[in-house]
Amino acid sequence: MNLMKATTAGIAFCAAGAVSAAELEVTHWWTSGGEAAAVAEFAKALDATGHTWVDGAIAGSGGTARPIIISRIIGGDPMHATQLNHGRQAEELIEAGLLLDITAVAEAGGWKDIINPSSLLDSCTVDGKIYCAPVNIHSWQWIWLSHKAYEDAGVPVPSNWDEYVASAGALEAAGKIPLAMGQQAWQSSGAFGVINVAVGGVELWNKINVQKDAEAAGGPEMAKVFEAAAAARAMAANSNVQDWNQATNLVITGQAGGQIMGDWAQGEFQVAEQVAGEDYTCLPGLGVNEVISTGGDAFYFPKQDDADIEAAQKELAALLVSPEVQVSFNLKKGSLPVRGDIDLSSANDCMKKGLEILAAGNILLSGDQVLSADTSGQIEDLMVEFWNDASYSAADAQAKYAEIIGDAD
Ligand code: GAL
Repeated sequence: MNLMKATTAGIAFCAAGAVSAAELEVTHWWTSGGEAAAVAEFAKALDATGHTWVDGAIAGSGGTARPIIISRIIGGDPMHATQLNHGRQAEELIEAGLLLDITAVAEAGGWKDIINPSSLLDSCTVDGKIYCAPVNIHSWQWIWLSHKAYEDAGVPVPSNWDEYVASAGALEAAGKIPLAMGQQAWQSSGAFGVINVAVGGVELWNKINVQKDAEAAGGPEMAKVFEAAAAARAMAANSNVQDWNQATNLVITGQAGGQIMGDWAQGEFQVAEQVAGEDYTCLPGLGVNEVISTGGDAFYFPKQDDADIEAAQKELAALLVSPEVQVSFNLKKGSLPVRGDIDLSSANDCMKKGLEILAAGNILLSGDQVLSADTSGQIEDLMVEFWNDASYSAADAQAKYAEIIGDAD
């Protein structure tokens, strides 16, 4: 099916399905400045169809929101649509038959031809049926560096991980926090994964996370990753904030030299009206292994016993992947779109770096796509202990990590 036909069919799907206007309660955890600006684009687009977006924002990170979302669906009090991450977070809900099959929407919209990389749609597919609408690509593989902090410290902005670690002393001497990090498990676990890819390399990351190779997890190459993580731990020792966007704000205001965080951080720089390349520098893959990991977000549609609501849910699924909404949402979110056929010329320099890496095919699956929620949780627990206890040696943490990978599913 060519694109034109697919887009027309997608719109036709919307028109054909349009029945009485519905109010759709949509849950998500996008409550920072940048996230709220982005989700407002979704709400605006749905409201323009005559349906109503009833915002169900849940404050806190995904770690807080996901259990609430999942227990509402399992408990028989489902919302009409919800954000979750790409990957395996919804697999038990799908197996329990609680989520709407939107294969017909995907076929009408030609998603198999337009969604790139196709692994995003694979992550929505169980037994050949499609259960989610991917809406963006968020890569964890970034560090964000404050030009003000480095000017104040009198050292050049680093161009890679080693230069960044070497700049810690000068930053501390200037009263800066070398590495901003919030005190939540997913943040330290996420940062560890990025250091893993940068210092250990893509091949090692895949061997451990995709092939679950416990020997590699306990091996000498991975020992270097844990040493680097211990160095990062020391750099973050005085970062006393909770939420990720508070840590991003330390970089925005020049109180911290850098933050390892997914590219949703871009939304905060945009709300602060900071310009990539002028006020901050972004290093994909920490300036070592320039890859984009295909994390990010997708929307799922819990089953309802109401035909009008179901029709409206399917219209929303089609809308979220439509070209116009993909542009308006992703530019505000700082994420990359799930389709390659749209004009993102207004993207900033960092988004353009991401688009170039994506176009070159230098992509990595995200941990959410390859590890079960249980294994991810065990790694997060280990990282909380390791990052918060300077006496927890890199070697001991690595031994525990190898055990977890040995039992990973
Ligand atoms: C991630 C989500 C992003 C971003 C981040 C911080 O799980 O994919 O969209 O919002 O959480 O809240």
